[in-house]
Order: sequence, then structure tokens, then C-alpha cells
Amino acid sequence: MAPGIVDDPFPLYRTLRARHPLHHDEPFGAWLLSRYADVGAALADPRLVAPPPGRTLTHLESATHTAHRALLAPALQERALDALKAGVERTAYVLARRIARRDEADLVEEFCHWLPAVAVVRALGLPYEGTAHVAALCRAGLTHLGGAPEALDVFLRPHIVRRRAHPTDDLLGALCAARTDGRPLSDETVCGLAATFLGAGGHTTGRALAALLANLLDHPEQLALVRAGPELADAAWAESLRRDPAAHIVLRRATEPVRVSGGTIPAGATVACLMGAAGRDPDRFPDPDRYDLFRTDPGGLAFGAGRHRCPGARLARLTADAGLRALLTELPAMTWAPGFRPVGTGLLTRSPAALRVRLG
Ligand code: HEM
Repeated sequence: MAPGIVDDPFPLYRTLRARHPLHHDEPFGAWLLSRYADVGAALADPRLVAPPPGRTLTHLESATHTAHRALLAPALQERALDALKAGVERTAYVLARRIARRDEADLVEEFCHWLPAVAVVRALGLPYEGTAHVAALCRAGLTHLGGAPEALDVFLRPHIVRRRAHPTDDLLGALCAARTDGRPLSDETVCGLAATFLGAGGHTTGRALAALLANLLDHPEQLALVRAGPELADAAWAESLRRDPAAHIVLRRATEPVRVSGGTIPAGATVACLMGAAGRDPDRFPDPDRYDLFRTDPGGLAFGAGRHRCPGARLARLTADAGLRALLTELPAMTWAPGFRPVGTGLLTRSPAALRVRLG
């Protein structure tokens, strides 16, 4: 919480990893975990659950969690994503072409905010016109865990009412028709599940895409390689998620005392898994601050671990892949605008606030 940390938390992460791998941070009110091994183990530990308040999937445990997670799964599987792909690719090209007419642009404002919102609005089955609304909510603070619930509820309610009266076969329709323990889900539960979906898709994927573009623009030689060999896009994405994970801190609450890195987290305490620190742990990754798309093992923590591991990783990759390809094709001379340097913003989720590029 100290001044300057949000601008550059990485020196602090280095100190924590090396000297205080388990540290209680008074102002933040949480026990900090920063080493790759500890963060991975904590995310998968059933004694560490999502902290209140919250009504989204990550806040549920046991049978209810399994049942609700299963309701989202069909919309994130290969067949559903195949159906989504062409629309996401088309949108990516439309957005990129609009930018290509100009001398300079901010890719966060004009691309990263929009493309993932389109993908997730379509995946849920909301009308295309809902995209601007979802993108605006993401900007106003709809987080990965579906914050800003009131504004989102107001937006979703009429769609839920309509589907309760006239069932549809999209994801929102499936949530409205679903029964758990013989009873339909309440409107509140449907909104919570939809909020996680829209928040993750619209907000977190947008942030991860912005980080990927920043890493490539910072390394023009690697950008040129991806342009020449699109099959390298997956490696570029995985390496960016390691070095600059969009879900930068994941919170948990200890239901009982948990021993870790030579100390004990007391029951009831909040735990902050510092994903951004874990991704640059030198005990796990050689030369961890370097962005290197040829890194043979970039790890896999960025989407979490254990029972809450992100079910949207494939949709996120599909979106990022479509976005990157459209930008590389339509903006072939893209470089940083003169004098511009990206600045990271946010701690729970994190990415560059702006990406000002010159196009000609
Ligand atoms: C690059 C983009 C993304 C990143 C970095 C990311 C990261 C994560 C992480 C770290 C978690 C675990 C949170 C926890 O353990 O508390 C998570 C959970 C989740 N993510 Fe994502 N996510 C991304 C995109 C998506 C997309 C596109 C969707 C679907 C539209 C999605 C849906 C979810 C859901 C529903 C959960 C909760 C799972 C559960 O609690 O069982 N995510 N995500």
C-alpha cells in the first residue's frame, strides 16, 4: 500500500521472495505469499477458500461449486468456442482496420477494452449491442470476480426475465433453465455466474492482451518473429502471462491454521497470493524479468490452480490470438509512439494503463 508500489511492485516482490516469503502486511490486512511453489500450493489448498464478501463462483466451495462450475463448462468447451471463433476474428479485424486509418492510437482504449467484451457477450448469448455496456462496466470496475454487481444486475435482469418466460439455448438461457437440488437458480445466482463470466472475459482478458502487446512492442525483434511465424503466438502469450499476469493477486481466507515457508497462517486470516511475484521467482525461472518467447517452460500459474483453476483459459487464448493476428496484419508498422512508455496500473488485476502506438 506504500506510495510508488502500484507503479512498480517488482522490487518489493524481490525482497519478499528472498527474505519474507510469508509476511503479514498490516495495511493490506493479509498474509503475503510470493514464491512460485508457495503460491501454487496455496491456490490448490482446500483449507484456503475465497474470502467474503462475494457471490461469484470463486466464493463457492464443495458440491455447490462443482454444480455451478459445470453449468458454465459447456460454453467454454471446444465446440462452443469453434462456433464463437469466426465472430471474434471478424470483430478483431473490424477494430484493427478502424485504427489503421490513423497515425497514432491507444490500443488499450480502442482495442483491448473492446475485443474481449465482444467475445464474452457472444459466449453468454447477450445481444451484440450489449458489448458497449459490458465494456463500460469493465472500465468502471467490473472485476474478474464480477464487482460492480448492481449496475450489472440492472443490465442483466430484463434478459433473465425474458429467458425465464421464453427459454433459449445460449449460456444465459441454460443458467435460467438449470436446476440444482431440484430447484431453479435464483436471479441473484444467475447474475453472479454471469458477472464472473463477463468480468473475467471483458476485464481480465483485456488486461492480459494489453500486457502481451506491451511485451512484444518492447521487444521489436520478438514482435518481428511472431509476425513472420504466427505459430509463435501461443508461446508469446504464455510468456507474457508468466511475466505480467493479469490476475496479479488472488485472495484466500484460511479456514484453519496453515503452515507454509517456515511460518503459520492463522485460521480466519486473509492470504494474498502474489501471482506477479510468483511468475518472476528466480528459483523457478532463470533470468525471470526477461521477456523471452523461446523460454521452454513458462509455468502455468496465471490461470490459477486446483478446484478454482480458470475454466476460461481457452476462450482467453482464442481472443488474444484473434486480436494479435488482426493487429499484426492491419498495423504492419506499429511501434511505440515517440516518447511513450507503458505504465502498469492495478494490483489485484494489472496491465498497462495505455498503449500509445505510431502506425505509419
Ligand atoms: C487471460 C485471461 C484470464 C486470466 C489471467 C484468468 C485468470 C483466472 C484465475 C487466476 C482464476 C482463479 C481465481 C481463484 O483461484 O480465486 C480464474 C477463475 C475463473 N475464471 Fe479466469 N482468467 C482469464 C480469462 C477468463 C475467461 C475468458 C473466462 C470466461 C469467460 C474466465 C472465467 C473464470 C471463472 C468462471 C473463474 C472461476 C472458477 C472457479 O471458481 O471455479 N476467465 N481465472
